[in-house]
Amino acid sequence: MVLVSGSGTNLQALLDASADEAFGARVVAVGADRDGIEGLSRAERSGVPTFVQKVGDHATRDQWDEALAARIADFKPDLVVSAGFMKILGSRVLGSFPVVNTHPALLPAFQGAHAVREALAYGVRLTGCTVHLVDAGVDTGPVIAQEAVAVQDGDDEDSLHERIKTVERRLLVEIVGRMARDGWTVSGRTVRLGRPTRRS
Ligand code: GAR
Repeated sequence: MVLVSGSGTNLQALLDASADEAFGARVVAVGADRDGIEGLSRAERSGVPTFVQKVGDHATRDQWDEALAARIADFKPDLVVSAGFMKILGSRVLGSFPVVNTHPALLPAFQGAHAVREALAYGVRLTGCTVHLVDAGVDTGPVIAQEAVAVQDGDDEDSLHERIKTVERRLLVEIVGRMARDGWTVSGRTVRLGRPTRRS
């Protein structure tokens, strides 16, 4: 299942990929933290069930986390993908499901909600995207895959973000497909895709 907060182009890439059975995964539901976003419309157009859980509708952040975990659990997902979901997930969600996030920078550089703006402001010549497992921190979980994107002279936040997103969508689809088809193991901060090999 996929969590979104905005335009949902990464979600769309997953929806498109899952049209082919060989991809090995399908999007069972899409959850959001706000109404009226293109990400939810994309899910509806694909016939995928949606739900919205807003932080502001709950007395505490913990209650939101519990309600979100319960909605996710209804769909019994094997994996939760945070694809442009702009909220920090709580312990109930993270303790119940493996969660993968896509981030528009080469972590651990430029964690948080304004990664592309901050990379440009810093003046880096190389940035990129990271697919990682989510832990209790902000963009601190073990890295699964990264790809670099060069900053071009004259880039602004939008142009750079669009080039990153082109790479990001392909990488996210590749990694989610491999996780679904082949599984993964985590040892410390190292994530290995594929089934563990037995040593004799
Ligand atoms: C993506 O670039 C994703 O990495 C970023 O939001 C964009 C969502 O695009 N997420 C974050 O910045 C989280 N810190 P999309 O809605 O078109 O998939």
